[in-house]
Formats: sequence, C-alpha cells, structure tokens
Amino acid sequence: MSLKSQINIDKLPQHIAVIMDGNGRWAKRHNKARVFGHQNGVQAVREISEGAAELGVKYLTLYAFSKENWNRPAFEVNTLMKLFVKTVDKEMATLNKNNIRLNALGDLETLPKETYKALMKGMKSTESNDGMTLSLALNYSSRWEIIDAVKRIAGEVKEGQVDLNGINENLFSNYLTTSDMPDPELLIRTSGENRISNFLLWQISYSELYFSDVLWPDFSKEELYKALLSYQNRERRFGLTGEQLINS
Ligand code: IPE
Ligand code: IPE
Ligand code: MG
Repeated sequence: MSLKSQINIDKLPQHIAVIMDGNGRWAKRHNKARVFGHQNGVQAVREISEGAAELGVKYLTLYAFSKENWNRPAFEVNTLMKLFVKTVDKEMATLNKNNIRLNALGDLETLPKETYKALMKGMKSTESNDGMTLSLALNYSSRWEIIDAVKRIAGEVKEGQVDLNGINENLFSNYLTTSDMPDPELLIRTSGENRISNFLLWQISYSELYFSDVLWPDFSKEELYKALLSYQNRERRFGLTGEQLINS
C-alpha cells in the first residue's frame, strides 16, 4: 500500500508550516558551494507545494529566510535574494495552473527592492487563486513579528481605537502576519535539527512537531506523506486527558 493511499483525507491539517533546512550540508555532500544547495532546494519547494495542494491542504508556510540569516556571507545572501526573484517569476505559471495563491510573511519592506517587487508581482498575479495559500516567510523572525504587533496594538490603545481590556488571544492573533490563516496543526523541520529558530512562536503553541533527518533538497512528496501519517497517528489532547477525548 502506498504511503499516499494511507493518508486520511478527512483528517488533513489545514495548515502545514515547514522549516526548510539543510541546503548547505546537501551541497557539501555533493562537494559543491552552499548556494548550489539553495538552487536545488527550489525543486523541493515545487514538490512539496504540489504534493500539499494535490491532497487538499489549504495553507503551506515555508520558512525561506530569517532575520538572523542576514549575518551569513554576503555572497550567499545576495544569491538567495536573486534566487527568490528568479523562482517567483519562473513559478508563476505553475502556481496559477495549480490554483495556488502566493503570499509572503515577514518584514517585506526592508527586503532588497527587486525581491520585494517580485513578491508583490507574484502575489498580485495569483491573488484570485483559492486552492492553497503558499506563504514564504522571508526576512521573518517571530520575535520581530510579536514586537511589531505589540507596537501597533499599543499605538491603537493610545489613540483610543483599542480598549486595553479588550486585548485577548484572538485580538493579538489579528496583528500577526498570519492573521488570515489558522495556526499550523503540523510543523515540519528537515535536516535533523531539533529547534524552532525563531519561527511562528505564537502560532505553534499547540502544533504537532515533526523532525526529519532528510536534507531539504531531498525532501520529496513521500517524505511529506510520512510526516502526515505521523501527524495522523497522534492524539492531540489540548490539555485534556486521553479518556476525556474518547468520551467526547
Ligand atoms: C536552509 O538551509 C536554507 C536557509 C536557511 C536559507 P541552510 O542554508 O541553513 O543549510 P545548512 O543548515 O547550512 O545545511
Ligand atoms: C532556519 O534555518 C531559517 C530558515 C530555514 C530560513 P537556519 O539554518 O538559519 O537555522 P539555525 O541558525 O541553524 O538555527
Ligand atoms: Mg541551516
């Protein structure tokens, strides 16, 4: 029985978030420069986006560049920024064909102008697609996002637009970059690293975590199916006891 056929389509996560990691090590294994790994990571983005959309996942969020990644060597950063431009341009037709809407999360306005422009163009040209929303987290860090939300809420409290006693989890979520999507039920990280690296800290408070040893450029649809099967075999308790869940 294929892995895909074992997936229960009625119990799919609505939102899958992925920390795409291991491009550099993949390149090293192939005796190539790190940027070769990033170039090959694009193929995995294509595979996983297609695989998730085919199954009926509504939101796929990929961590593509963190605020901390600016500290990498300039050549790597510049190559990545150019790769984002090239990839968005190149993939537009496929996104439209697969009814996928492109979205971006992060501090977008401080990205290099060309990268920003390519993202805006990609988002505009796919905005009416209603199959799956593919979000790229770019120049993103969760602490930046939380501080940004706090500043905007504080400003609105000061102006009398938000009531201090009205601040709750729901209101706070509306000020995050993910305001128009449900929290991810499943978070995947590749390459054997077991950490979160400043990704969606608020949103993953109850996500199921799945760590794969596979390096990102090798992450295939089959690997996605393995993650989904692991997710579907778990009991999500949200603070309740296992007995309470059985009786509900
Ligand atoms: C993930 O792969 C891609 C980005 C962070 C942009 P890495 O570049 O972090 O690969 P490793 O972790 O060095 O192998
Ligand atoms: C996290 O990967 C960021 C992205 C996947 C874009 P890193 O490779 O930068 O994470 P750390 O620094 O090893 O934790
Ligand atoms: Mg890494």
